[in-house]
Amino acid sequence: MADTLAGTVNDGAESIPEFPMPRADSCPFAPPPALRALHAETPLTKARIWDGSTPWLVMGHADQRTLLADARVSTDEHQPGFPHQSRAMAETLDHRPPTIFNTDAPEHSRFRRMLTAPFIFKRVEALRPAIQKITDDHIDAMLAGPKPADLVTALALPVPSLMICELLGVPYTDHDFFQEHSVTAVSSDATPEESQAAAGALLNYLMGLIDTKLTEPGEDLLTDLAERVRAGETTPPEAALMAVVLLIAGHETSANMIALGTLALFQNPEQLALLRDTDDPKIVAGAVEELLRYLTIAHTGQRRIAREDIEIGGQVIRAGDGLVFPLSSANWDPDAFPEPDTLDLQRPARHHNAFGFGIHQCLGQLLARVELQIVYGTLYRRIPTLRLATTLEEINFKHDRLAYGVYELPVTW
Ligand code: HEM
Repeated sequence: MADTLAGTVNDGAESIPEFPMPRADSCPFAPPPALRALHAETPLTKARIWDGSTPWLVMGHADQRTLLADARVSTDEHQPGFPHQSRAMAETLDHRPPTIFNTDAPEHSRFRRMLTAPFIFKRVEALRPAIQKITDDHIDAMLAGPKPADLVTALALPVPSLMICELLGVPYTDHDFFQEHSVTAVSSDATPEESQAAAGALLNYLMGLIDTKLTEPGEDLLTDLAERVRAGETTPPEAALMAVVLLIAGHETSANMIALGTLALFQNPEQLALLRDTDDPKIVAGAVEELLRYLTIAHTGQRRIAREDIEIGGQVIRAGDGLVFPLSSANWDPDAFPEPDTLDLQRPARHHNAFGFGIHQCLGQLLARVELQIVYGTLYRRIPTLRLATTLEEINFKHDRLAYGVYELPVTW
């Protein structure tokens, strides 16, 4: 391995790169240069993470798909040697019960079954008119307000938040509370005590709501979960935790895609023009896939552990070895996407790994796709002069968050 790579440390005879690597300020959309250089040498190698351990870094598109779909690859974070995301995640391990994220089949299938109904194609397609209306209303309000406006607070955050609240049956009026606590619960900057306190507050809040749904049912997922509690299929804390997971996963992800995608389009005006000048849903849907690939907002590397020895690409991953999957590497793999640096809204990009792969592939992907298709398909057509109201250098990126994005996006028109 080349010792010229940035961020390498000496590990006795070998030099092992450190993960994660920093992005380049000059190209905030691209994966870190040192990660790309490493991937150019090999699709699979070891890297050192925050606790000094050296899990495998799986960078190639094909290798990621093979391993993420392999039943010998586990998400059980209680296994010794699991490559935790951060110190806070490692230290709060015993306080984290089983969820859809950290279980393998068949337990994982039980969680997935309980949560799938609102996210199937038919149900999500039926939400299109509601998402369109929320989008139009927020664009109207932004146009009626002062310039410049912050696109994050004016549109990017409220649209997915309102939709996930609607699906779950959570009052949107409480959004300040759950947004603030969601951020702290999963922040790698928060202390273990802070993360735990925030998660606890969210859990109590949702347990209260589920309890209310037992007597005041609605047409929503919390009512569904309340009925499963009554039927003895799940317990109140487990049901509340499932709801917390969806609330956290369901709003900031799509919000980041909306704001970061808009910024990427501002930097690529000829691509922005393609979206502005079309009302063809196929073109818009293709653009969404390419933006998902190009931006890969789930940027901290999915974590797994090998349950058995696995041979891949001439290497043997031993039982008990940790695995880290930087999804951006796969999505910028030139073997899967020629000229990956180019944002090309017309390229076929649907085989990206931005939603993961295998049994844990994103449960909310259809909803996210529809939200993005509607917002990208509406915003630039309704405001053809929409543009950045500051410079790229002034933008504050979410390097420290589980989902990459921008804190604010000042826009004018
Ligand atoms: C653009 C938006 C989104 C992106 C990029 C995204 C990305 C991802 C990724 C990469 C995973 C796989 C995690 C892993 O394998 O370790 C995942 C899983 C998941 N996502 Fe999303 N997500 C998005 C939106 C959503 C939305 C809107 C929801 C819910 C309303 C959601 C709910 C979930 C859930 C519950 C899982 C866990 C699935 C499982 O483990 O079986 N996501 N997401």
